[in-house]
Amino acid sequence: MKDSNFLKEHNARSLWHPMAHPADSQANPPTIVTGAQGVRITDVDGHEVVDGVGGLWNVNLGFSCQPIKDAIAAQLDQLPYYSIFRGTTNDAVIQLAEELRDFFEPDGLSRAFYTSGGSDSVETALRLARQYHKIRGEAGRVKFLSLKKGYHGTHMGGASVNGNANFRTQYEPLLPGCHHIPAPYTYRNPFDETDPERLAQLCLSALEDEIAFQGAGTIAAMIMEPVLGAGGVIPPHESFMPGVREICSRHGILLIADEVITAFGRTGSWTGSRHWGVQPDLMCTAKAITNGYFPFGAVMIAEHVAETFEKDESGRAAVGHGYTYSGHPVGAAAALACLAETLRLNVPENAAARGAQLHQGLLTLQEKYEVIGDVRGGHGLMCAMELVSDRASKAPIDKKTINTVQEVAYQSGAMVRVSGPNIILSPPLILSSDEADIILAALDAGLSAAG
Ligand SMILES: Cc1ncc(COP(=O)(O)O)c(C=O)c1O
Repeated sequence: MKDSNFLKEHNARSLWHPMAHPADSQANPPTIVTGAQGVRITDVDGHEVVDGVGGLWNVNLGFSCQPIKDAIAAQLDQLPYYSIFRGTTNDAVIQLAEELRDFFEPDGLSRAFYTSGGSDSVETALRLARQYHKIRGEAGRVKFLSLKKGYHGTHMGGASVNGNANFRTQYEPLLPGCHHIPAPYTYRNPFDETDPERLAQLCLSALEDEIAFQGAGTIAAMIMEPVLGAGGVIPPHESFMPGVREICSRHGILLIADEVITAFGRTGSWTGSRHWGVQPDLMCTAKAITNGYFPFGAVMIAEHVAETFEKDESGRAAVGHGYTYSGHPVGAAAALACLAETLRLNVPENAAARGAQLHQGLLTLQEKYEVIGDVRGGHGLMCAMELVSDRASKAPIDKKTINTVQEVAYQSGAMVRVSGPNIILSPPLILSSDEADIILAALDAGLSAAG
């Protein structure tokens, strides 16, 4: 690797960063991460911090998970790649599908369709949902419903169901027939409702209203995250997802759970759907399926959806969709080792305990700092603070202040993520109590510096 002077001089010069303005990356060069161990990352200057971001919600088992590294190396030696398009397969994907079937059995999901990441999983689920209805003779069911504030990746389909203007406006026109429902976001909502249970009911009524307006027979699926993640960690009331499930079932609409973040333990339950006692028809997974060590994902398919495809005799069920890297054997080997470690470590237990600690710590910081308008969490290791310049009016914070919080927190020992007015925490699920305290102390320093 080139020396640190070279890296700093060329930082952001010849590449564009995702989710960033190219000129901003050049004016404010990103932190160059050069190493990681456990839950800590080290930058090019040798500064080491606790990673409060967990890579990007994906390194659930930390950076030193040797069994996954060994599995990747061994698979590269044995079979580095072969396609699983019609006619060929590989041993790793067969074994993985059986293990995923066992893992997702309580969610009612029994088949896997492999992808190369979260956006691919969303695209796959949207397409399979339309095809499901066509197979059943309801070709008019083509529309999609989703939540405002939802994040579903950045492919054209995913961006179309995405509920945040930042990921939409510059790429419009998007897919027609995608309609958005208010999110159960108590801090800001069109109903001015702060009670989570009442707000959940209002959002469910809005969903019913939209279905009546569109016509149930035109809608293929509703896609939602069990806990809205990238949109600012918005946990709904416990009645919300079961309510969505009931409405979808009543109207023949498939429910797609986008669990790219929440599958494999992050909420303190094994899946977000299980957290709320819901069985979806399709589930999007990626990220922690390989602990972030290999780009990989899987759409999990409910038994009744699978049977509709498998028993079809019309020819409409042939899947005309897939990626060169669907079922990559190295990804599958990584996922097998990752799943075994995830189960062995029983990560939801620690996610719930450390999540409660972080959430409580943020609530304590809110008592101290006026700038913290809202604190959200309480469902595993996903928390957020929404910063405001004025608590009474909830006027959004300015960029400079929130960036100062982030920078000083970094200098004080923790990497945290800024997303709009939110500071988001999604550390590895193996975080210790001391490491959670380091994140909280670093945020305290950052907030204090921001004045
Ligand atoms: C809920 C959800 N869906 C989809 C995606 C897209 O995943 P990827 O970035 O791997 O394409 C993300 C990424 O953060 C996500 O949080």
